[in-house]
Amino acid sequence: MVGLTIDGAPVKAPAGATLLEACRQVGTEIPTLCYLPTLTPVNVCRICVVEVERNRTLVPACSRVAEEGMVVATDSERVRHSRKMVLEFLDSSVDLSLADDEIEDWVDRYGADTARYGPLSAPAAAGERDGRKPGHHHPPDGATAEGVHQPTKVDNSLYVREYSRCILCYKCVEACGIDAQGTYAIAVAGRGFDARISTEMDLPLGDSACVFCGNCIAVCPTGALMFRSEWELRRADLWDPEKQAVTRTVCSYCGVGCNLELHTQDNRIVKVTSPQDHEVTNGNLCIKGRFGYDYVQNLGDVEQDPIDEVLKAARRPVGE
Ligand code: SF4
Ligand code: SF4
Ligand code: FES
Repeated sequence: MVGLTIDGAPVKAPAGATLLEACRQVGTEIPTLCYLPTLTPVNVCRICVVEVERNRTLVPACSRVAEEGMVVATDSERVRHSRKMVLEFLDSSVDLSLADDEIEDWVDRYGADTARYGPLSAPAAAGERDGRKPGHHHPPDGATAEGVHQPTKVDNSLYVREYSRCILCYKCVEACGIDAQGTYAIAVAGRGFDARISTEMDLPLGDSACVFCGNCIAVCPTGALMFRSEWELRRADLWDPEKQAVTRTVCSYCGVGCNLELHTQDNRIVKVTSPQDHEVTNGNLCIKGRFGYDYVQNLGDVEQDPIDEVLKAARRPVGE
């Protein structure tokens, strides 16, 4: 165990624990965006920073290991100011309207002025952001806040990519690559403000290395990656979480025994997830468990069901 001080109180934490773990163990809340217990910390969002005595810069609590004698302040003026700036930068450039609710709570808690940099700049045309070369910069116009918005990528029947909502937390990259799937179909392309998540050579998902496990969708905190079924139902104004139930069951495809969470609405499965805290799957599934559920429901067999047409359309190849 190591002994440290957190916000003036003595705390004992297991050797090797991060400051985030030490704080959570004593009930001190630290906001996180790019952190997930099942993924390797990448330290990119910096919302979790705390102040450590005798350290020149603020440190990311999600990855900094607690050390004997550390004196940590989690809610100092400097910490609050830094978190406020992170939230203002994010909200000025990214569409956070479908992000986890807690982000909105943080905006209030840290007094972030999300309109500070003016109205959002005009959206990039399809493919324009993807075509930007490293080192490409242009001067700001001074009147608008530069945004990351671009047309939604709908290139398959399983999931869509709406990178106007992407905060570049890297969770999808970690889940696709080293931490879960080992597929490495997506990574960060570009540099600076032009950085974006991309397949190799910006290929459509179906032509890339993607195996459509959907593990990237499962970790995305902002709705940038979304089940095609959910996306189509939202577009048709039929997505209704109030009417949805979640039923836990076991995948029927193989002997691994992955746990599934079937999200149902109007007696239809509208998406499938897996519990993050399950020791077999850690929230991950393969394409069959996550998307192969059509055989249990005969869409169209209940004539008055208004969501059937939308769900059927979502499964058709793009353009049909
Ligand atoms: S669906 Fe799976 S393989 Fe495809 S990009 Fe997402 S994590 Fe990678
Ligand atoms: S697509 Fe989602 S998970 Fe991936 S970097 Fe963007 S916000 Fe994070
Ligand atoms: S949660 Fe620590 S840097 Fe993102």
